Amino acid sequence: MTADALSADWIRQRSPNFSPRVGIILGSGLGALADSIRPSAIYRYQEIPEFPRSHVAGHAGNLVLGDLGSVPVVAMQGRAHLYEGWSIDQSTLPVRTMARLGIELLIVSNASGGISSRFRSGQSVLIDHHVNLMFRSGISLSDARVGLATHGVPDRTASIYDPVWLERAEKEAIELGFSLPRGTYLGTLGPNYETRAEYRAFAKMGADMVGMSTVPETIVASQLGIPSLAFSIVTNVAKPDAPSKTEHSDVLEWSRNAQKQLIPLIERLLRKYFTDI
Ligand code: HPA
Repeated sequence: MTADALSADWIRQRSPNFSPRVGIILGSGLGALADSIRPSAIYRYQEIPEFPRSHVAGHAGNLVLGDLGSVPVVAMQGRAHLYEGWSIDQSTLPVRTMARLGIELLIVSNASGGISSRFRSGQSVLIDHHVNLMFRSGISLSDARVGLATHGVPDRTASIYDPVWLERAEKEAIELGFSLPRGTYLGTLGPNYETRAEYRAFAKMGADMVGMSTVPETIVASQLGIPSLAFSIVTNVAKPDAPSKTEHSDVLEWSRNAQKQLIPLIERLLRKYFTDI
C-alpha cells in the first residue's frame, strides 16, 4: 500500500461518513480560516500515518474535517515545506491523501515576497502561473500503477491554475468590495529569503511574487485532475535598491490582515459553487 493510501484509510476509518468536496491548505498566518469550519473531527498531523509535520511558527499542524458554510471540507492548518527536510513525496503526500478522500477543488494559500511594483504588503494575489525554481516537481509516475486517476505529466496547454476558478474568485472579490490582481509566483527551496540580486533576477524571469511552497502541491493536484485555486499574500515587498530586513513575525502579521478579505471570499465561493441553492 502506498503512503497516501495508508493515511487516507486511517482518516476514512475514523470519519467513515465524511466526504470532503474541497481541500484547503492554509499557509503562514492563514490558519484562522479553520476557525470558520464547524469541525466533525480534528487530527494532529503526527497521529496520521505517513503525514508530514510542519515545524514552522504559525503552522498549527491540524487536519480539520468539517463544514465550511454547509460544504464539507478538509483543511490543513499548516504544511510541510521542502526546506524542513521533507522529500518532495512526503511534502505532497497530503494532496494525494485529500485526492483519495474525493476533493473536487484544492484551495491553497501562502505568504510571499512581492516583486512586482504593483504590490504592497498585505495585498492578496491570485496565482495564475508559476516559475518552478524548486528543481523538483512532485509528479509521481508511479501513481498510474496504484490506480489513482492520473493525467500523467501535465502538458503545456493544460492550466495548473484553473481559469474558471480564477474568474470566479475575481468576480466574487469585486462583489465583496476589493480587487484581486493576478500574478506569477516563483517557488524557491528557501529557507532563506532572497538576496537583492535574486530579487532583480526573479523580476526579469517574470515573477511577481516569490515564496517557498505551493508549486509542488498544485502540480500534484493537476496531475490528479484536481483544479487549484491559489491565493498568495504579499507580506513584504522586495526593494533591491533600498533593502530592508524580512522578519517572519511581519510575514505573519500581514497575512493575518489579508485573512479579513480571503476568509469571506472563500466562504462565498464555496456557498455559491458547492451548494445547490
Ligand atoms: N521570499 C520568500 N518567501 C517569502 C517571502 C520572501 O520575501 N516573504 C514571505 N515568504
